[in-house]
Amino acid sequence: MKALDVPCPDWLLERLQHQGQRVPFSTFMEWALHDPDHGAYGTGQLHVGTAGDFVTSPSLGDDFAGLLIHQLIDWLDTLAARHPGALLSIVDVGPGEADLIAQLIPLLEASAAEWLSRLECVLVEINPGMQLRQRERLLSVGNIPCRWCSLQELAAEPVKGILLAHELLDALPVERLILRSGSLRRQMVTLTTFEASVPLLTWDDDPLPQTLQDQIDEQADRDGLELPPSGALEGWATEWHHSVEPWMKEAFAAMTDGMLLVVDYALESRRYYAPRRADGTLVAYKRQQSSTDVLRDAGSQDITAHLCLESLVGAASEAGWILDGHCRQGEALLALGLAERLTALQQLPGDRLAQALRRREALLRLVDPSCLGELRWFAFHRFVPTSAEQTDLNSRFLREPT
Ligand SMILES: C[S@@+](CC[C@H](N)C(=O)[O-])C[C@H]1O[C@@H](n2cnc3c(N)ncnc32)[C@H](O)[C@@H]1O
Repeated sequence: MKALDVPCPDWLLERLQHQGQRVPFSTFMEWALHDPDHGAYGTGQLHVGTAGDFVTSPSLGDDFAGLLIHQLIDWLDTLAARHPGALLSIVDVGPGEADLIAQLIPLLEASAAEWLSRLECVLVEINPGMQLRQRERLLSVGNIPCRWCSLQELAAEPVKGILLAHELLDALPVERLILRSGSLRRQMVTLTTFEASVPLLTWDDDPLPQTLQDQIDEQADRDGLELPPSGALEGWATEWHHSVEPWMKEAFAAMTDGMLLVVDYALESRRYYAPRRADGTLVAYKRQQSSTDVLRDAGSQDITAHLCLESLVGAASEAGWILDGHCRQGEALLALGLAERLTALQQLPGDRLAQALRRREALLRLVDPSCLGELRWFAFHRFVPTSAEQTDLNSRFLREPT
C-alpha cells in the first residue's frame, strides 16, 4: 500500500473528527463504499461495465448468463422436484447494474419449464443509489416478478431457491493487518495535518483488539492458516475478512432450502498469506484503472480485496452451508458449454462478423487467467438429500467437460 499521505475529502474529515481523528481501515472502507450520502456505491456513482469504472463477467455481454443458465435450470429442476408447487426464488445479492438478472430473465422464460409460473427474482442491494439504477434497468425486462428486500427481511420469511453472490464478498469491508516486531497489529486510517494545515489521511496501527485476535486464532486453527506466515518480514501486511462469516450466516437464514453460488476472487491460504505477498490484495478501481492507493478519492473509487479460499469455505460451513465443490471460472464455463459457444460463433453469417468478434473477445476475457478467469466458483447447499436420486445435486459446472 502506498505510504504517501493523501488529501482528506471534507465529508470524511467531519466523520473522522467525530471519531477522534482515526478509525480502523474496515470503517474507512465501509464509509468510502457504502455511506449513503458520499460512498462510491452508496450514492451509486460507481458504474460497472466497459464504459464504467470496472468490468464484471455479466457486464461484458449476454454470454456469461447464457452459460450460467444451464446450471441454474438444473438446480431449479432439483428444487422443483423436492418442492412440488412451491414458490422458487433466484436471489441476487449485490446485483450492481442488475445485468445478470436482466440477462437471466429472458433465458428463464425461454426454458418453458414447469416451475416457471412459480418463479420470482429477489434483489438484495444495501445501497440506495445502486438500487435506483437496478429498478430502472429491470422496468421493462420480461414477466418474472422482481422484488427488492434485505437479507434480514428474507430471514423473516425465508425462501427456497438459489442465492447468487457474484463479486459481492470482495466488496465487504476488511480489516488490514500489519506485522510489527513479530506481532500482528490492526491498521488504522488517521487524520493528520501538514504545514499548510491541509488535512491528510495516513496509515498507522494499533494492537489487535482481543475480539479480533480471538477470531483470527480460532479461524486460523479451524481453517489451517499460518498467520503471520513464517518468513514474513517486518511491515508485511494482509487483509482479514471479518464480515464474511456473519454474511454467510445471514444468507443461510434467508433460505429454507437451496443452493448458494459464490463467484469471487479467491486465493488458497498458502498464496494469500505467503511471505512474499507482503502487501495483501487490496486494490482500488476507477474508470478502468487499478491502483493500490486505496485511501485516495474516498467515495469515488471501488475498493476490493481477494478472499482466502479456505477461510471462505470455513465461514460457510460454520454457518451451516454444505460445500458441493469449487473450481476456477474457466473450468466452470467450459463445463457449461463455453467451447461449443465459441465454435457456434464461427457459423454466424458474414453480416454479423463484428458481433461474432465482439462476443468472441468477451468469451475469452471471461477465462483469461490474468483477468476474470481468476474468479472462483463455489457451490454450497443447505438441504439434506432425502433419497438416493437426490444425492446428485446437479452441479453441472463442477463436472469434467465432456
Ligand atoms: C462489485 S459490484 C458487483 C455487481 C454484480 N454482482 C456484477 O457482478 O456485475 C458489488 C455490488 O454489491 C453491492 N453491495 C455491496 N455490499 C453489499 C451487501 N452487504 N449487501 C448487498 N449488496 C451489497 C454494491 O452496491 C454493488 O451493487
